[in-house]
Amino acid sequence: MHELVITGGRPLRGEVAVLGAKNAILKHFVAALMAPGRHRLDNVPDIVDVRLMGEVIAHIGAKCRFVGSTVEIDVPEDLLPEAPIDLVRRMRASILVLGALLARCGEARVALPGGDDFGSRPIDMHLDGLQALGAEFDLVHGELIARAPGGLRGAEVPLDFPSVGATENLLFAGVMAAGTTVISNAAREPEIQDLAEFLGKMGAVIRGAGTSTIEIEGVGRLSPASHRAVPDRLEAGTYLVAGAITGGDVTVRDCVPEHLRMELRKLGETGCEVTVGKDWIRVQGPPRPRAVDFATLPYPGFHTDMHPQMVALLAVASGTSVITENIYAARFRYVGELNRLGADVSLEGQHVIVRGVDGLSGCPVDACDIRAGAALVLAGLIAEGATTITAAQHIDRGYSGFDQRLRDLGADVVRRSPAPGST
Ligand code: UD1
Repeated sequence: MHELVITGGRPLRGEVAVLGAKNAILKHFVAALMAPGRHRLDNVPDIVDVRLMGEVIAHIGAKCRFVGSTVEIDVPEDLLPEAPIDLVRRMRASILVLGALLARCGEARVALPGGDDFGSRPIDMHLDGLQALGAEFDLVHGELIARAPGGLRGAEVPLDFPSVGATENLLFAGVMAAGTTVISNAAREPEIQDLAEFLGKMGAVIRGAGTSTIEIEGVGRLSPASHRAVPDRLEAGTYLVAGAITGGDVTVRDCVPEHLRMELRKLGETGCEVTVGKDWIRVQGPPRPRAVDFATLPYPGFHTDMHPQMVALLAVASGTSVITENIYAARFRYVGELNRLGADVSLEGQHVIVRGVDGLSGCPVDACDIRAGAALVLAGLIAEGATTITAAQHIDRGYSGFDQRLRDLGADVVRRSPAPGST
């Protein structure tokens, strides 16, 4: 358990570089399982979720060696095709081994992920899609027993919703299925395009990744490959909001501005000065932001994982903002915590009504999940006095060296581990 103590009131200034995207790298670890031999991933952040995915694939038989921001993954010929409940519980993305193991081993045993802090998150689209490719499922004692008795066969799979995870599971299954697989209404996230690129280096034949229709020609065998992940747009976006909320001047380097187009547009509407170069973004915060409305949507819409951070900014805007959360039924636990800091945020169904206040005042708050935790840190940066963020380990799941990098930008942030025995 860690705490972050932030003393607000300092404008953040300077530059920060981002590493590879968590939501891409987790999938690259799974992709590696599909080809025996040594893979190499560069630009990998040392964050808890990456280490956890390392444990998941280690359970299956791979060996991961972390050296700085490089990871070498050795994958044996024979795998243990299972992801048990303790691993799936700790990280929902473990469900992605399903498609990869079905492709590689023709079978998989994967614990069914439960609900989480965002409400129930079903995997019906993953299962329907894999079934269309020839997989069969039994649910035994909370564990999915998956088999592809006749081998996976290419098929047309229309998704009800452009689910990121379902698209990825189908990519894994499709690249080694016999014949052609066509995923329509596929997720278009940059991380999907990046995964397809890595799989392509391994010998997969994929067309249209990054668009709504992905066509895959199955191949018999893949070979190991090296890859440098796409930059983390969520990490980049969070540091930009840190500059905005403190009325500071922050430049994020090594990012892809195009991947944050909608988020940058909204930051501009709040009154931020936004300047972009080929691989950098500079945000200069206004003396006081203006209210803006936005709705979270699949890419290229406003990313749901930037929703809480943006609400932190709008909490101190002049005027009332309305945010509509369209991706998750219950991504609102951060609201109560933000209100403890003096924000005036209320909920009406899927709408978040943010009445801007003149200022926030520091107090203890709980980082309920990665992005909620990040949002509370951002709020703490401008709150009067000290804000103590408990359960800060949630933040470490997605941000490497968050507090140090904020300190480098001028923030007053201290990390503490509570004394043993304290609650
Ligand atoms: C990924 C990201 C997560 C991000 C989300 C949306 C990773 C590790 N996580 O999650 O950070 O917030 O994309 O951009 O990459 N759904 C169903 N049935 C399904 C699949 C999904 O109902 O079979 C629902 C989910 O409950 C959720 C919505 O669809 O409400 C979006 O889910 P999805 O796009 O699949 O997100 P993840 O891949 O889980």
